[in-house]
Amino acid sequence: MSPPPAAHTAGAAEPISATSTLAGSTCESAVVVEHLSKHFGDRVAYQDVSFEVGVGEVFGFLGPNGAGKTTTVRTLGTLITPSSGSATVAGIPLSPRNGPAIRSRISMMPESPGLYLRLTVLENLQCFAGLYTLDDVRRRIDRALGAVNLEDRAHDLCGSLSKGLRQRVALARALLNDPAVLFLDEPTSGLDPVATREVHELIASLRERGVTIFLTTHRLEEAERLCHRVAILNTTLRLIGRPDELREQLFRRSVEVRLRAPLSDPKSVLGALPEIEGWEPTPSGYTLTVTDPDLAAPALARALVGAGADILSIAESHHSLEDVYLELISEDVEAKSR
Ligand SMILES: Nc1ncnc2c1ncn2[C@@H]1O[C@H](COP(=O)(O)OP(=O)(O)O)[C@@H](O)[C@H]1O
Ligand SMILES: [Mg+2]
Repeated sequence: MSPPPAAHTAGAAEPISATSTLAGSTCESAVVVEHLSKHFGDRVAYQDVSFEVGVGEVFGFLGPNGAGKTTTVRTLGTLITPSSGSATVAGIPLSPRNGPAIRSRISMMPESPGLYLRLTVLENLQCFAGLYTLDDVRRRIDRALGAVNLEDRAHDLCGSLSKGLRQRVALARALLNDPAVLFLDEPTSGLDPVATREVHELIASLRERGVTIFLTTHRLEEAERLCHRVAILNTTLRLIGRPDELREQLFRRSVEVRLRAPLSDPKSVLGALPEIEGWEPTPSGYTLTVTDPDLAAPALARALVGAGADILSIAESHHSLEDVYLELISEDVEAKSR
């Protein structure tokens, strides 16, 4: 399945935005990947991966450790060359010759922030800004510090900051060049829940501004909360779509019914309804597999009342993205043998 990327092109009031950076470009997708593979000798990091990321989209790249997420980011960020396949990043074909042009239009925030701990936040940002040929460096730094709410810490040594604050400095650094695509590799890895929430809020505010974000994570709730679409990678791409689409695609729809007492003859009540394909008893009732919950629920209610049952509730079951993920991984022979 490879649906076209959703057209999330939120208007950008602020200068830090992918849409403004891409203005004038003929490219509608921020990233296009076609049959990309990377091998290290005999080891396959990722294989035959194809997807597109729309401009202004937050695209989640989800997979267990060793799935090939970082290697994919490093490839698209021009740090390593693919073994085969092709890609376009920020409208520019991926090739060794185009490396500098691509790097000037993207940013990568690696898993470990890689800051100079004996320099202040401001000195770090000045140092990294100096690696680009940027105009108006001080204004860019102020804007990036403002975007991550770190204006007050500009003169603190990075070594004195918590891990969560260092991650925010790294995010500020990634915003300095006003990137067309921002690659975030496990941005909340190792952070406590409060720092994680702060980073999530920052990503959500970048999403609001229309920044195109490629977010790798093994945290399902992170992908579900922040991403327009999610791809599940485990060396090969397993699924791609909106979180709600993935749930529907993988699971048959089901309805939970809770009764005051179990049915004396469930087969005669539930088995007689064409909308119900099967059922499992639960401690307080039944889980029913149905063709369409909107058709099944009224028919079920009538049948249960007719059978003299006291209904406590009838509700469609909702699967989390975690259910989808675990279902995929548990079916995955490669993952089991890894
Ligand atoms: N430079 C390298 N040399 C050899 N193997 C590598 C190298 N980088 C990554 N790999 C392998 O590629 C696979 C994918 O790794 P990685 O992309 O880091 O996964 P993830 O980020 O999803 O945890 C792993 O089996 C890893 O050991
Ligand atoms: Mg990784």
